[in-house]
Amino acid sequence: MGGSAAVTIVRFGQEHLEPFRALAADPLVLRFTRFPDPLPEGFAESWLARYEAGRAAGTMEGFAILAGGVFAGIAVVPEIDRARNAAELGYAVSPEARGRGVATAALELLTQWAFNEAGIERAELQIGAANEASKHVARACDYRYLHTEPNVRVKPGRIEDSEHWVRERAVNST
Ligand SMILES: CC(C)(COP(=O)(O)OP(=O)(O)OC[C@H]1O[C@@H](n2cnc3c(N)ncnc32)[C@H](O)[C@@H]1OP(=O)(O)O)[C@@H](O)C(=O)NCCC(=O)NCCS
Repeated sequence: MGGSAAVTIVRFGQEHLEPFRALAADPLVLRFTRFPDPLPEGFAESWLARYEAGRAAGTMEGFAILAGGVFAGIAVVPEIDRARNAAELGYAVSPEARGRGVATAALELLTQWAFNEAGIERAELQIGAANEASKHVARACDYRYLHTEPNVRVKPGRIEDSEHWVRERAVNST
């Protein structure tokens, strides 16, 4: 599969749990996301249950990324803040699919979903200061760096500087 394999995002469901389990256990994903490390038993199922509840409440949304029709990662909205018309977005790509523009294509699709389907005005990213690949993706999708929050407790056992990036919906965004 080359760099041109079509990237799509589809609502995350039971059918994505198996490849998601492998993605969640990847060292880079554990390093740079809020997934607990080590992963507890049954993490994938409880993660999906949380997203399904959030989807029903209108506060969260989760997508599987497909590249050439094959599972290649996740594109998620862990928090939709209706009061601010803002949402936090996140992404992770399976190790075998990295380095081909998959995250960049998926973040653009997720951002368009947030602006055009969810009515969000402000899309926000929180990126570990050491996560150069993710900052590349943010920049490629026209997010701009806002500031760095020092010493954030990302999860139990991990404290690090966290960069905040933002993209606002363009007035004529389609
Ligand atoms: C970050 C991540 C999603 C990127 O996925 P990807 O599909 O490989 O990303 P893309 O191919 O779209 O773009 C990555 C860019 O970063 C660059 N890059 C990769 N590693 C890099 C590094 N260590 N330093 C600098 N740039 C790097 C690539 O060259 C590429 O830039 P280019 O398009 O100009 O060539 C993937 O590495 C991942 O899943 N990491 C673990 C989870 C994670 O960090 N999620 C984000 C949390 S904020």
